[in-house]
Amino acid sequence: TRTPVTVTVTGAAGQIGYALLFRIASGQLLGADVPVKLNLLEIPQGLKAAEGTAMELDDCAFPLLRGIEITDSADKAFDGANVALLVGARPRTAGMERGDLLSANGGIFGPQGKAINDNAADDIKVLVVGNPANTNALIAQQHAPDVPADRFTAMTRLDHNRAIAQLAKKLGVTVEDVKKLTIWGNHSATQYPDIFHAEVAGKNAAEAVNDEKWLAEDFIPTVAKRGAAIIEARGASSAASAANAAVDHVHTWVNGTAEGDWTSMGIVSDGSYGVPEGIISSFPVTTRDGRFEIVQGLEINDFSRSRIDASVHELIEERDAVRSLGLI
Ligand code: NAI
Repeated sequence: TRTPVTVTVTGAAGQIGYALLFRIASGQLLGADVPVKLNLLEIPQGLKAAEGTAMELDDCAFPLLRGIEITDSADKAFDGANVALLVGARPRTAGMERGDLLSANGGIFGPQGKAINDNAADDIKVLVVGNPANTNALIAQQHAPDVPADRFTAMTRLDHNRAIAQLAKKLGVTVEDVKKLTIWGNHSATQYPDIFHAEVAGKNAAEAVNDEKWLAEDFIPTVAKRGAAIIEARGASSAASAANAAVDHVHTWVNGTAEGDWTSMGIVSDGSYGVPEGIISSFPVTTRDGRFEIVQGLEINDFSRSRIDASVHELIEERDAVRSLGLI
């Protein structure tokens, strides 16, 4: 029998947590033959609700679920963690300035980064979902000097999946026909979903669409503002699709991208494509054996260049802001 993989989920009592935990426990995160132990981190006010979710997890009698730990101590939650999903974050509330938002999240992701540094397993893989995801991931990474920087990632997989769905709908194909789509930059309204290298049923997607106006005025804003559209329609933010994307992100990281395809992940830049080294930006990546590589050699046209630069510029500003606040 295999030793269980320890998966830590923060913000476990939240909306995304509720949609996520059952999928992890059922084997969809790591594979149908991998037993898991769940460590749930919440703030004290969230502990009771997390316990309620844990009762429901018990009631599913998932064969792969080998234990649930619920705590408000980050050191305990990350003890021996192999995978950490950092979902809990401080949301922006009315009247909150960006500096306040970054400070509040620095107070969460700094200590969690340190707790990961001090307690997690050597093979720890971290996915930050809580917004502002890229910069929260940077803060956590900067507080974990003993962990390789490339173990800290931010989620742009929901944007990636949204873009695939929109493109497939436009071209009247199935989502499986769409390959090599890229989300560049920040998980924010400045993100850039790039179809110039994407393939649809083997043909170049931008050529198949052949409509730059649709691209600029419909596709890109629809993908970038999808979160707001869902809040407007549902009266609550996207939770099931966000949880699904988190499952996809980790599953792809651990199990690899398919031959002839890639995915999008927010990762520490190595300077590729003119993105300054050290910031956490979304790139096209291939994964294999638990490691990932940025897809190299893509030609970036002017349309793409200006949009990538704008999103990266926003990330640089966020990094500079957390630096000047002393958060990294
Ligand atoms: P939610 O408000 O329903 O749940 C958040 C949970 O985190 C709450 O239970 C809260 O008690 C907990 N929490 C707060 N601070 C914590 C801390 N220091 N340690 C542990 N737990 C803590 O929010 P929801 O809908 O689950 O969303 C979570 C985050 O995910 C938000 O920041 C949201 O903006 C972000 N998000 C990111 C997406 C992405 O694509 N990267 C997509 C959708 C949401």
